[in-house]
Amino acid sequence: MTTTETLFVREDQIPGEFLLDEQIHQKEYLNNGVMQKWDGPSTPVLSPVLVQTPAGLKRKEIGSYPVCTEKEAMEALDAAVAAYNNGRGYWPSSSIQDRIDCVEKFTRRMIDKRDLVVKLIMWEIGKPFADSAKEFDRTVEYIYATIDALKDIDRQSSRFEIEQGIIAQIRRSPLGVVLCMGPFNYPLNETFTTLIPALIMGNTILFKPPKHGTLLHYPLLEAFKECFPAGVVNTIYGRGHTIVPAIMQSGKVNVLTLIGSSKVADQLKKLHPKVNRLRAILGLDAKNAAIITPAADLDLAVSETVLGALSFNGQRCTAIKIVFVHKQIADAFLKKLAIAVEKLMVGMPWEKGVALTPLPEPNKPAYLKACIEDALAHGAQVVNERGGKMEESFVYPTVLYPVNKNMMLYREEQFGPLVPVVPFDDLEEPINYLIESTHGQQVSLFSNDPEEVASLIDPLVNQVSRVNINSQCQRGPDTFPFTGRKDSAEGTLSVVDALRAFSIRTVVATKLNENNKQLINNIVSDQNSAFLSTKFII
Ligand code: G3H
Repeated sequence: MTTTETLFVREDQIPGEFLLDEQIHQKEYLNNGVMQKWDGPSTPVLSPVLVQTPAGLKRKEIGSYPVCTEKEAMEALDAAVAAYNNGRGYWPSSSIQDRIDCVEKFTRRMIDKRDLVVKLIMWEIGKPFADSAKEFDRTVEYIYATIDALKDIDRQSSRFEIEQGIIAQIRRSPLGVVLCMGPFNYPLNETFTTLIPALIMGNTILFKPPKHGTLLHYPLLEAFKECFPAGVVNTIYGRGHTIVPAIMQSGKVNVLTLIGSSKVADQLKKLHPKVNRLRAILGLDAKNAAIITPAADLDLAVSETVLGALSFNGQRCTAIKIVFVHKQIADAFLKKLAIAVEKLMVGMPWEKGVALTPLPEPNKPAYLKACIEDALAHGAQVVNERGGKMEESFVYPTVLYPVNKNMMLYREEQFGPLVPVVPFDDLEEPINYLIESTHGQQVSLFSNDPEEVASLIDPLVNQVSRVNINSQCQRGPDTFPFTGRKDSAEGTLSVVDALRAFSIRTVVATKLNENNKQLINNIVSDQNSAFLSTKFII
């Protein structure tokens, strides 16, 4: 606490290197290769970081962005449809090497904007500066890894296969128009882990930036414009519920890719008139559990739980959102957990070593307060000293125990710095929790007993998509499959899987006889076809 009893500081106390040079008022958006001017309504971008002013605490305004209407959204859709041109457009029919060249050029331009984008991530969503920089760099690494993976796929496809008298070449082809929407918690990284693979596979893109974490995309629009043909990347700005339904109802979207809530994904999918034509690549809600048994190394279980539950204020889809601890060790675990949580540094996102920062969703503190009150009303207690405290957009990390099935925190995805801890007697209890859960992303097991760990792995691999042993839940490394069961995901993402998800295997085949052999040889040697080709990307 500062002397004025607030976490928030005055503007003049913010170190200059973290400030934006000026507010950013975006008055244009990218559509059909043109930065279209916008003089309609805008929405102010208010940081989760408040500053002390003579009139009291105020969210710092960092700029504004356009609130477009259905009309502009439909124009962007038309541009994407025209650029795809039923698969005959320049982009879907260009060579893999050409597409790679464009993405590489874009990445170089993107790197030039690193400083500004990192600052905007920090200011828009309150992510610690170091983590904002990590998000940017991880995204660049992801793009380069995607390029390498695509070269690899292409090399494997640059050959003919002969099977049962049929000669064929099998390659991956694009799917069409992709509507891409990312989340606020990884506004750059998670958006680009779908947008870039979709783009590089030859699809055309309609991209709606997240509601929080919008402005940080603005410095990249010029690079999209310069590096890709007109209509290949188009942006839509505005309220999702106003601009997205008509796009889906048009039936012209071939792939919906959304990292967000299952409720929104459900509604959008149902709007498409041809359900079977629409592909969906979705990363959705999760309620990952940690299970801590008496055979666990308690210090390790505590440090991983703290990391897993509270990194970026618990605002990760992979966060540990409920902890099951065996009654025998519950007291010892809670004591250590409370101490570890109290050691976490709270403060402003530019502060070195800060762990907990203000929350970007304006209604989140009230929701988290309701979760805490509900837990207390149903018999839980706040275990750590600062637990339950709040100030404006800031919510202190709060450990609650004992949590039971009557509480909101037992089932709801809090997506915030609350750590609900449930005592158990028998391992069947957390197993049944996962069976009954509507989510199925990951689980963390803490035990050093090989028999016990093995007895948990087998039932749990059929409930979730990743079982972490003595470690927190996480998405990375990005080469590993990232997916989920039930309401947690549709499709699989990883560097390679994403390339597969945004394309379809396509075969050109013929009966192997002298005539067809000659025909194919001619096409290949004259380089008449981009598909039927043995060109090898080095
Ligand atoms: O919000 C979900 C992210 O994909 C989590 O990624 O586990 O690397 O933080 P992470």
